[in-house]
Amino acid sequence: MKRSPSHQNEPVRTGTMVEMSEALGQSEAFLDFQERLSRVAPINRPVLLMGERGTGKELAAARLHFLSKRWQGPMVALNCSALNPALIEAELFGHEKGAFTGADKRREGRFETAEGGTLFLDEIGHIPLEVQEKILRVVEYGTFERVGSSESIEVDVRIIAATNADLVSLAQEGRFMQDLLDRLSFEVLFIPPLRERKEDILLLANHFAARMAFELEREEIPRFSEEAVRALEAYPWPGNVRELKNLVERAVYRADSTMISDIDFNPFSSQPAHQCLNIYTLEKL
Ligand SMILES: Nc1ncnc2c1ncn2[C@@H]1O[C@H](COP(=O)(O)OP(=O)(O)OP(=O)(O)O)[C@@H](O)[C@H]1O
Ligand SMILES: [Mg+2]
Repeated sequence: MKRSPSHQNEPVRTGTMVEMSEALGQSEAFLDFQERLSRVAPINRPVLLMGERGTGKELAAARLHFLSKRWQGPMVALNCSALNPALIEAELFGHEKGAFTGADKRREGRFETAEGGTLFLDEIGHIPLEVQEKILRVVEYGTFERVGSSESIEVDVRIIAATNADLVSLAQEGRFMQDLLDRLSFEVLFIPPLRERKEDILLLANHFAARMAFELEREEIPRFSEEAVRALEAYPWPGNVRELKNLVERAVYRADSTMISDIDFNPFSSQPAHQCLNIYTLEKL
């Protein structure tokens, strides 16, 4: 069965809230993923998104939210790897005034902000075990306490979690709660890496190239030479769609004509050694 390209919407972060913009794919692997995603989106249960870095997990989370009955509610995201583990609990559940040093006023957490909507827990493998236990209670009973309070707060929040870690192994090693994993994995969606969906590479490259040309106020839409297309399709894309986007944007910006024939897969390799040293030294300052 031939299916038409999917145009899912892409989330753009504004603070902790997530909004939508555009996303694409036409490979069988991507369309299968999208179909499974659309099917589970309206079901009021947690979903676990798994995939390598840059594959579009956050995009998928936003699609799950906007295709659910909660779409008019908030979509709140928390990147658990960006926070010191000690701060995650207060960030998720909020805290009372004086709960810890520096807590000079009461603050609501992401669960409360997401009331009636979706909470996207990115890199969930980074959450400490004791906080995982508290999350399990919200999933099971819909209640929690702010840090420094014994008052129980009720919330109605759907959890979408994402990871590129092997949670099953982490659970076996006792570093992730098996009970929470069982609850979060009502549906597990694997986003295939870009190298396993080669039909998407050129589609995405053309899309990002056109957007970059528009941003640069170029009059014509750039095209890739045959050689460039071959290079794009042969590359293994360890950073997946994010890497493709950056690389294409750079190629468009550097190109002198609308035909792009030069793809620089490693911008650092073209820097003379002393310039690299300067960048390194500046970053250390
Ligand atoms: N199918 C797609 N179409 C268009 N853009 C996409 C697509 N998939 C991903 N992107 C873009 O690629 C970039 C990375 O996507 P995203 O942040 O959702 O990935 P991720 O899996 O959450 O990455 P990480 O593991 O690093 O958090 C974003 O700029 C996103 O807009
Ligand atoms: Mg992400």
